[in-house]
Amino acid sequence: MDFIDLKTQYKKYKKEIDTAIQNVLDTSKYVLGPQVHEVERSLAEFVGVKHCVTASSGTDTLLMSMMTLNIDPGDEVITSPFTFISTVETISLLGAKPIFVDIDPDTFNLNIDQIEQVITPQTKAIMPVSLFGQMPDLDKLNIIAAKHGIPVIEDGAQSFGATLRGKRSCGITTIGSTSFFPAKPLGCYGDGGALFTNDDEIAETLRIIRVHGGLQRDHYIRLGMNGRFDTIQAAVIQAKLPHFLTELKARERIGKRYTELLENCCQPPKVAEGCTSNYAIYTIRIPNRDQVAAFLKEKGIPAPVYYPVPAYAQPVFKSLNVNKKNFPITEQVCDEVLSLPMHPWLTEEAQDFVVESVKEAAAVTV
Ligand SMILES: Cc1ncc(COP(=O)(O)O)c(C=O)c1O
Repeated sequence: MDFIDLKTQYKKYKKEIDTAIQNVLDTSKYVLGPQVHEVERSLAEFVGVKHCVTASSGTDTLLMSMMTLNIDPGDEVITSPFTFISTVETISLLGAKPIFVDIDPDTFNLNIDQIEQVITPQTKAIMPVSLFGQMPDLDKLNIIAAKHGIPVIEDGAQSFGATLRGKRSCGITTIGSTSFFPAKPLGCYGDGGALFTNDDEIAETLRIIRVHGGLQRDHYIRLGMNGRFDTIQAAVIQAKLPHFLTELKARERIGKRYTELLENCCQPPKVAEGCTSNYAIYTIRIPNRDQVAAFLKEKGIPAPVYYPVPAYAQPVFKSLNVNKKNFPITEQVCDEVLSLPMHPWLTEEAQDFVVESVKEAAAVTV
């Protein structure tokens, strides 16, 4: 059984994807070719914002966002400790300090009500993570941020396509960032990502940073990087995008079915009111998690742990000296989470096998 089935997806759209890739090969515009600009228009329309700036990965997009907002050494960026390492790594790469707030036990997203307590004069940005496929209440967060004049960057690497009160992930905050890593709900065939904003100046700066800090040849006006999205990858996303809404519906159906079937044997993920989830990573909470994971593995079910260790407890962040007692929910969740196979082509039969196995595991590991 696959955790994410990319082979079936390729077979379904093979003709469109092969043609799109072949077109790039035929025109040989491999770097910032026309397909990159086309996909940016399509993605901006999908999200419902003025600008999309594609980039080399969902890590580079975070870095580019913070470079655009002039985040410097000593500045503070508020974020979640329960996330993929990129979120925190990029803050630290700029010499800024990640400031953590604890998470919500039901949605795994950062607890918005705790944010105001950690805002200081050094706070230069708030970077919420829309974990496992759904956004935190970014409307509420925007109000707090606006009150303090602080920009918000949504790390929407996992939530592309999800909605909050009808608005799409990546289109609600000052800047929205996503990833097209192959395993993401909208994935390319290598590394890639995109940034979204309604602010003309921010979009222009992002485009400048993406090409070494200068849009004119041999003229560099600020520090930048090579952050470009490959044209071949842009063509893959453009070919997949027309199918994305159908995939999102399938994901929602499968996610909801998991939740109904699993309700009595573990804590399935909760989708908050006003939200839809893309169920990027279907994650339950269950006691004796490690034994349950071992049991599922024996049955041939891939069930990885996202994430076993809070970001602040990673060896690389030891020098931050974070007191784990301030993050009781994160600590507990890291011990209990387990993710189950999830993709738009998961059959009911396969899903039933997963559910029955989780139930059996829960019973034998009590
Ligand atoms: C929450 C989060 N942020 C950032 C990233 C980084 O994206 P990428 O792998 O495209 O660099 C990921 C990807 O795994 C992620 O899950």
